[in-house]
Amino acid sequence: MIPAANGEKRGVIYTFYSFKGGVGRSMALANVAALLAKWGYSVLVVDWDVEAPGIERFFTRDNPGIQNLRANTPGVVDLVQAKSDGAPFPWRDCLIDVKIGSNSSRLSLLTAGRSGEDYTSRLHALNFPELFDKHELGSYIEELRNEWAAEYNFVLVDSRTGVTDHWRDMHGPLGRCSCAAIYDNRVEHRGRAGDSRASQEGAGTFSAGPQEALCSAGAGQG
Ligand SMILES: Nc1ncnc2c1ncn2[C@@H]1O[C@H](COP(=O)(O)OP(=O)(O)OP(=O)(O)O)[C@@H](O)[C@H]1O
Ligand SMILES: [Mg+2]
Repeated sequence: MIPAANGEKRGVIYTFYSFKGGVGRSMALANVAALLAKWGYSVLVVDWDVEAPGIERFFTRDNPGIQNLRANTPGVVDLVQAKSDGAPFPWRDCLIDVKIGSNSSRLSLLTAGRSGEDYTSRLHALNFPELFDKHELGSYIEELRNEWAAEYNFVLVDSRTGVTDHWRDMHGPLGRCSCAAIYDNRVEHRGRAGDSRASQEGAGTFSAGPQEALCSAGAGQG
């Protein structure tokens, strides 16, 4: 934990961002999370990649029931939907405990949302620009961010890729923290990562390389 301006101890939030998809961002995040948990830190993993979710699949080896848990546990989309309906509920109701080896470490997962056939329609029903303009989604994300940082040593957020309509809005409140930008190759749009980092403290860059993985989404793991 690092001391905040007011002297309170606060965790660190890392947003894992890449301009392109499929570059190993989620795998890097899952492995960093597993290592931090093994080292005794409390870690919250948040799947904010709502259009292409599924970070839970990297934890299936030690948590075979995790996909079923996601089907029955609310997540980001459900939190945002409830907020827009004027019926917010505690984010703690979304947490899935993730086991890493036999370690008694604390790793919590907040998935992109309850999976199922209606996931896509529930996601598409969310009008993000309107939520930011009329339902104070930005302030809500700030609140979540503060509460997460107060409770965990590390919060690792798997972010959306590319430049979306509300890219800056999303990266504003969630990204006022350190940012791990994953570079895969020269196709990566470095300008975007630069923009993302510009407003952030302590930005860092990971280069994903082939190393022994603690977590992987290999064959048979969904
Ligand atoms: N360092 C690595 N070595 C070998 N394989 C890797 C490595 N990193 C990722 N992979 C594999 O590459 C594929 C894509 O990885 P991953 O899902 O982490 O990418 P992503 O950037 O999160 O993709 P998306 O944009 O779809 O969310 C996966 O099958 C993963 O197992
Ligand atoms: Mg991913």
